[in-house]
Amino acid sequence: MGVKKTVQSAIPDPNIIHRIGNTPIIELSRIAEGNAPVHAKLEWYNPFGSLKDRAVIWMIKQGEKEGHLIKGKSIIVEPTSGNTGIALAGIGNVLGYQIEIVIPSQASSETKSILHHLGAQLLETDDDLCPRVGKGTDQSIALASSLVESYPGKYFMPNQYENEANFRAHYESTGPEIWQANPEISHFVTGIGTGGSITGIAQFLKEQDSNIKVIAVTPQPGHHIQGLRNLRESSMPKLLEQKVALIDEWIEVSDTQAFAAVRAVADNENLFIGPSSGAVLHACLEISRRRGTKSVVGIFADDGRKFGSVYNAFGVFTPEEFENLRTTAKHLPAFFVNNLMI
Ligand SMILES: Cc1ncc(COP(=O)(O)O)c(C=O)c1O
Repeated sequence: MGVKKTVQSAIPDPNIIHRIGNTPIIELSRIAEGNAPVHAKLEWYNPFGSLKDRAVIWMIKQGEKEGHLIKGKSIIVEPTSGNTGIALAGIGNVLGYQIEIVIPSQASSETKSILHHLGAQLLETDDDLCPRVGKGTDQSIALASSLVESYPGKYFMPNQYENEANFRAHYESTGPEIWQANPEISHFVTGIGTGGSITGIAQFLKEQDSNIKVIAVTPQPGHHIQGLRNLRESSMPKLLEQKVALIDEWIEVSDTQAFAAVRAVADNENLFIGPSSGAVLHACLEISRRRGTKSVVGIFADDGRKFGSVYNAFGVFTPEEFENLRTTAKHLPAFFVNNLMI
């Protein structure tokens, strides 16, 4: 494990927090041509670039309300493979909290760069400790928990893997937004990290229409899909365990399938998505080809801009193609985190 200290160098506009949620849903009419319609909820429209802004603001507000998180006193520490860290660092920065992030070293270099620039201190679990993303996440949880226990009263750990506010963020915001935009939905598809988004959205949607089917996307063992976990190689988060009955079907997606979908949606729709959205898209297309499917909605957790190093390593895009997409793809809002990848 290595500890890197950084200075705060990017202070977001405080009003940015009010822009969390109400992300757009678009139809992917070209890539899903001839099948049931596929819709994607573009969660990178959240101000810090992913669906995790929702869970983070809900968990911080809950911590403040319960008196566990105190301004000027508490340090926020959290294990995360990326997006929760970025959301915590950005929102914490706005609200005046010091942030420490425990992160597997194999998270993308761009993710780590953003965290540094947002003033977070990074505690990296190294590759020997975490040969796989799932295992690495578990090591990160152990390290963050031991910090909290070693310094009583100093740290607040939101613990996204167990915090009910993570579930509630999606039950109260993402679920209602999907229902309002797509009441004809027959299948809902999303990836599993903590399980907060799938359980929160699924519970809300099934309360509106119990026929809606919920499909969980899980990556292959030994995967390279940042943010998702394979439950055969890492333990099931408590949040998910409590509500796992809401899931009707699991689809395992390989790295190759996820990256092929990333490439295909760039070619067909000029949309530039992150690896976990590629895995979700692969599953959405499979569901859309089945008889009886009326309308599919998938969650696209983040866009492709943080994944230049990953897409280069796996041959998804050449550096020229990547640069072209970064500057000309549709639906890429110019939020400031995207200027922090150096
Ligand atoms: C890129 C990405 N996709 C999907 C997810 C899954 O979200 P959840 O933690 O709500 O299961 C995450 C979570 O970290 C993520 O970062």
